[in-house]
Amino acid sequence: MKILVLNGPNLNLLGTREPDKYGTQTLADIENFIKNEASKINVEIDFYQSNIEGELVNKIQEAKGNFDGIILNPAAYTHTSVAIRDALLAVNIPTVEIHLSNIHTREDFRKVSLTAPACIGQITGFGTNSYKLGLIAITDYLLKN
Ligand code: DQA
Repeated sequence: MKILVLNGPNLNLLGTREPDKYGTQTLADIENFIKNEASKINVEIDFYQSNIEGELVNKIQEAKGNFDGIILNPAAYTHTSVAIRDALLAVNIPTVEIHLSNIHTREDFRKVSLTAPACIGQITGFGTNSYKLGLIAITDYLLKN
């Protein structure tokens, strides 16, 4: 099973970026963590981050035929990106949306996700564990569907 873990803008700054909201682990720490978790269940991970919306759209399009599922933290594009939502609908690859913080307890504009309706579900608010929970959710879904 091959899973693409996609990360949106500013997540490259994790570790120093608003640690009260996003914790002190870097994106490299998260990559190591999720790859280690995946190796225990024989899942292959490709991990990617971009600050550029179109690059995330390209990556989703390229995932067609190459990945069984996607774990997606669209970051700020969660709340704005019709293009990422449309790309997910176009490729129709099962996707779990995840967030480090709980977007439903923050500013009103963060409570709306344009991308979640194109996903099988959303995990939000568990810090780095959101990635692990996303891995459990997507692999379980793929085994059953
Ligand atoms: C985030 C939540 C978003 O609202 C924010 O723009 C981010 C990170 C999270 O993981 O908690 O960049 O996706």
